[in-house]
Amino acid sequence: MKLVVMENGYDISKAVSAEIISQINQKPDSVLGFATGNSPIETYKRIIEAYENGEVSLKNISTFNLDEYCGLDHDNIDGYYYFMKKMLFGQTDVDFSNVNFLDGTAQDYERECARYSEKIDTMGIDIQLLGVGTNGHIGFNEPADEFTHGAFCVKLTESTIKSNIVLFEGRQMPTHALTMGVGDIMKAKKILLIATGASKAKAIKAMFEGPVTPMCPASILQTHPDVTIFADKESIALLSTETING
Ligand code: GLP
Repeated sequence: MKLVVMENGYDISKAVSAEIISQINQKPDSVLGFATGNSPIETYKRIIEAYENGEVSLKNISTFNLDEYCGLDHDNIDGYYYFMKKMLFGQTDVDFSNVNFLDGTAQDYERECARYSEKIDTMGIDIQLLGVGTNGHIGFNEPADEFTHGAFCVKLTESTIKSNIVLFEGRQMPTHALTMGVGDIMKAKKILLIATGASKAKAIKAMFEGPVTPMCPASILQTHPDVTIFADKESIALLSTETING
């Protein structure tokens, strides 16, 4: 794993968006895996700016998102589809027919998850963008006894609910979500992970320096051939000097 330490979230967003924009300009029909949460918001802003300045067009890309809450439809303001539409897709020329999402309102979750993982297999993801949960989760792959493979329905942990419930502003937060599996994420050709703030320091330490274990799902990234972690100083506060200096 390559570690890039930057001064702040703005610098990280410049670097990560530059990678994504360059990927799209080299291959206009790139397949991109996007993430929700706070971590990628600034990056999405930089991509929108580049689009507005005529530096990139997203009209031929296809997208997959990591996860979606169970029971929330595309118009639900707490849903991740809505988030992506508001934060990126709707502000660019993304073709919504090329936007792939797990359907949190599907009748049969197993079938929906199988459909999604099969489509990822068929299309292949060029770049997967990730954040990391405070407990080391990626997507909604919570600490568990085994690494997951394909997409599945997950019961969210207390710590994840605690981290995300503020965004619901008093509205009921779902207890379950559909998420890409660790296996789906690991198939991406390239992975970019953003981590900022002291709340991520423990997860970052376990991810880099701990054993590869499903108890810290992000630790599996140690075994991927092309991962870059973009981190600020607070998030790497617990890393050893050897790790930081590579
Ligand atoms: C959430 C999402 C993840 C996200 C992570 C970190 O629960 N399911 O996809 O990467 O937790 O979120 P944030 O970037 O807001 O810290």
